[in-house]
Amino acid sequence: MKLSKKSRVDAAMAQIETATSLDAPGYALETALARPAQIIGKPAEKLGAALHGTPLGHPVHPLVVGIPIGTWTLALGLDVLAMLGVVKRKGAEQAAQTALTAGAVGAVAAIATGLADWQYTAGRDRRVGLVHALVNTTALSLNVASIALRRRGRRAEGRLASIAAYGCMSIGGYLGGHLVYRRRIGVDQADRSPEPREFQAVLPLAELQEDRPRRVDVRDETARKEVGIVLVRHGGRVHAMGARCSHAGGPLEGGWVLDGALVCPWHGSRYDLETGQPTTGPSTCPQPSYLVRVRDGMVEIKREQEPGDDTVTSEQIAQAAVQTRGRGPLGKKADDVLFEHHQFLRRMFERIEAMPREDPQRRDLMRTLAGELEIHEHIEDKIFYPAVEPVSEDIPIAHAEHRQLADLLAATLKLNTASLEFDEHVKALHAALNHHAGSEEGSMFHEAQRLGETRLRELGHQMEAMLDNQRTSRFHRSFRDLKISLMEGL
Ligand code: FES
Ligand SMILES: [Fe+2]
Ligand SMILES: [Fe+2]
Repeated sequence: MKLSKKSRVDAAMAQIETATSLDAPGYALETALARPAQIIGKPAEKLGAALHGTPLGHPVHPLVVGIPIGTWTLALGLDVLAMLGVVKRKGAEQAAQTALTAGAVGAVAAIATGLADWQYTAGRDRRVGLVHALVNTTALSLNVASIALRRRGRRAEGRLASIAAYGCMSIGGYLGGHLVYRRRIGVDQADRSPEPREFQAVLPLAELQEDRPRRVDVRDETARKEVGIVLVRHGGRVHAMGARCSHAGGPLEGGWVLDGALVCPWHGSRYDLETGQPTTGPSTCPQPSYLVRVRDGMVEIKREQEPGDDTVTSEQIAQAAVQTRGRGPLGKKADDVLFEHHQFLRRMFERIEAMPREDPQRRDLMRTLAGELEIHEHIEDKIFYPAVEPVSEDIPIAHAEHRQLADLLAATLKLNTASLEFDEHVKALHAALNHHAGSEEGSMFHEAQRLGETRLRELGHQMEAMLDNQRTSRFHRSFRDLKISLMEGL
């Protein structure tokens, strides 16, 4: 079987990931790095934390790799321009030399921070990391050689060496990207569910022993999963933090208490019991934190919300319902208006699907459907979603789904209505609408009831008015027609 370009790259990556021959040298290198640190003790621990980025709260490695990438790219550009005679040779050569040197310094920092992080990887990630390091070290060596050659006046060889170095660096960059985006190395692995938003009893205090971490689970209905939280009783107080270690997902309930911190059993990151902040690497990211209280002999916890958390609180609900109640004329309830329109859209899809392919009316009906879909999204975006936002967490997803519907609609409009491809696209669009409308009806409309009937009728009235205006106003109609023709490709 002939492999496509993409799968060839994947096959190469799979080969690296399964190359167990890399394990022995990897282990030897790790031991060589660990021993001196163990002998030196505290200062080495501090240096290690700095190299990971623990005090910074962010991994340092991705910050410093920008230096060699930027400066070596600059040097390559200058070399090319000098060869083409676009810039003055002498000045360009000097600048390239400076850029290469600055990049070499940055590369040393990148290697140091990278090695610090690499030690705490395992298996496939460790193998890819090792090759990533080897390739990038080769790039550095080639560039150091290039600097030396250039100094001796052997410019052509110097340029060749830095071109080869650039190639190595690019491969190294690809491997680094693979580690982060595919293998998820260095990304926050903690469970950041906002649940429980109100104090929830999770365990009788009597079952929690001093310095014996204990895991409890709470339910996150939106994400449809259980969220693990670790409780620690220490010095007469109870602390709680996310049970999944933010570094690589280690189980903190299996850890132990040391120096007022909870230690991860996998790689030894320590998290301050009070704040959840890492005090020692390799972790750079705080654990999700919880407020704790004891009521009637039960430990109760509540998640401390993080900035930007889309959470709906009871105060928000009360406020949204009171703030706007009793203004303006009343009509059908907003969710009923939308539900009826959903049904109307569904029927239009069924009609288009049932029509013979060659029927010229198919195009007209498709245009009407496109217009109605636009109007529907418009009234939701302008009236319904903003009103429901304080009481529902579905809005960001709903916006994303609107975007997808619009993209699919645009692609469908471009097709010949007699074609098989059109049928396929209409089917997909119908399915997308069913999914979106279904989740609005199944979840968002229920949450919207928190606004109270009066508010919903007031919104319903506004939406019916807008629906009517969008359908009848000449201006809106021609504007919509123009948009649809543009999407059709005129
Ligand atoms: S998983 Fe690595 S320190 Fe917790
Ligand atoms: Fe919608
Ligand atoms: Fe809708």
